[in-house]
Amino acid sequence: MIKIDHLSTSYTTIDGPVHVINDVDFEIFDNEIFGIAGESGCGKTTLLKALYDIIEFPLVVDSGKLILSGQKEGKDFSYETGEIRKNWWNNISYVPQAAQSVLNPIVPLKNQFLDSIPKSDRKKETKEQTLKRVGAYLEELSLSSDLLKAYPFQLSGGMRQRVIIALATFMSPNVVLADEPTTALDVVVQRGILMMLMRLQKQLKNTMVIVSHDMGVHYQVTDRMGIMYSGSMIELGKTVDIFEKPIHPYTKMLVGALPRVGDKSQKTGIPGRPPALTNPPPGCRFAPRCPKATNKCKELVPKFREVEQGRYAACHLLNSEVV
Ligand SMILES: Nc1ncnc2c1ncn2[C@@H]1O[C@H](COP(=O)(O)OP(=O)(O)O)[C@@H](O)[C@H]1O
Ligand SMILES: [Mg+2]
Repeated sequence: MIKIDHLSTSYTTIDGPVHVINDVDFEIFDNEIFGIAGESGCGKTTLLKALYDIIEFPLVVDSGKLILSGQKEGKDFSYETGEIRKNWWNNISYVPQAAQSVLNPIVPLKNQFLDSIPKSDRKKETKEQTLKRVGAYLEELSLSSDLLKAYPFQLSGGMRQRVIIALATFMSPNVVLADEPTTALDVVVQRGILMMLMRLQKQLKNTMVIVSHDMGVHYQVTDRMGIMYSGSMIELGKTVDIFEKPIHPYTKMLVGALPRVGDKSQKTGIPGRPPALTNPPPGCRFAPRCPKATNKCKELVPKFREVEQGRYAACHLLNSEVV
């Protein structure tokens, strides 16, 4: 399980700290695909970086904890002790945003695989033996082992993404984090990548965290999901429940903006823009865009709390009959 315990982070800038993750508090379970959604700039990538312990200047943790419990040999890993980092690849792996460009275009894939597998995990194998295992794994994923001889520049974006996912899952990690894994790919390729991730999660029975601004991706693959807005988690629950009965007005708008089969009405999207993180409004950060906002919303930050079993939301309106 991953426990994100009242985590707050900020980026240090010359104009002072920019608070990007604000008191985010939730759990991600074993054996599930957890989705993180929200408009661009709301802090999804920052949260994922924190989970992978890429907490490096200018990003700092202001308060809270991050714990990966029951990992390899039943151990708990915390970012404070560096255990998350020590177990990159073999226990936790990360497919970064725009991952297709992280591969060095002019280094053959086999070298990039060998560089990523920690020496300790290559046991007493020769390079050839390790590559044979990698090749067999690629074949298992319906990819050709000949890919190892290829250079990334020779592959399509979709194929590069598949190779990166193969690399990230080769050591059967307990946790796989994927940031916008299908963004910038065409719809047919997207579907293939999502199926690959789902298949891998079923096989590994591990925790997969998928960040996407695309609600359609969450609908297709995630078991539970959280919606972020302006650096805070504002709703969380089972994906089916989020889509069927969204609670927070922002979630309602996100879900309402999705096209549905047979629905010919014009989709307008969500009016307005998220507030600048450098100068956020007091109270609920969604209040300036919320059609139902009251004075209380504009003054007091709503608490993220359990509304029904397993269902969380941060909205003052839940206490009244407005919602
Ligand atoms: N290195 C940085 N320095 C200052 N601010 C940053 C830095 N990186 C990201 N941010 C700010 O953090 C906010 C959240 O970014 P990010 O986590 O990438 O959001 P998302 O992935 O949801 O689009 C953005 O508004 C951005 O301005
Ligand atoms: Mg991002």
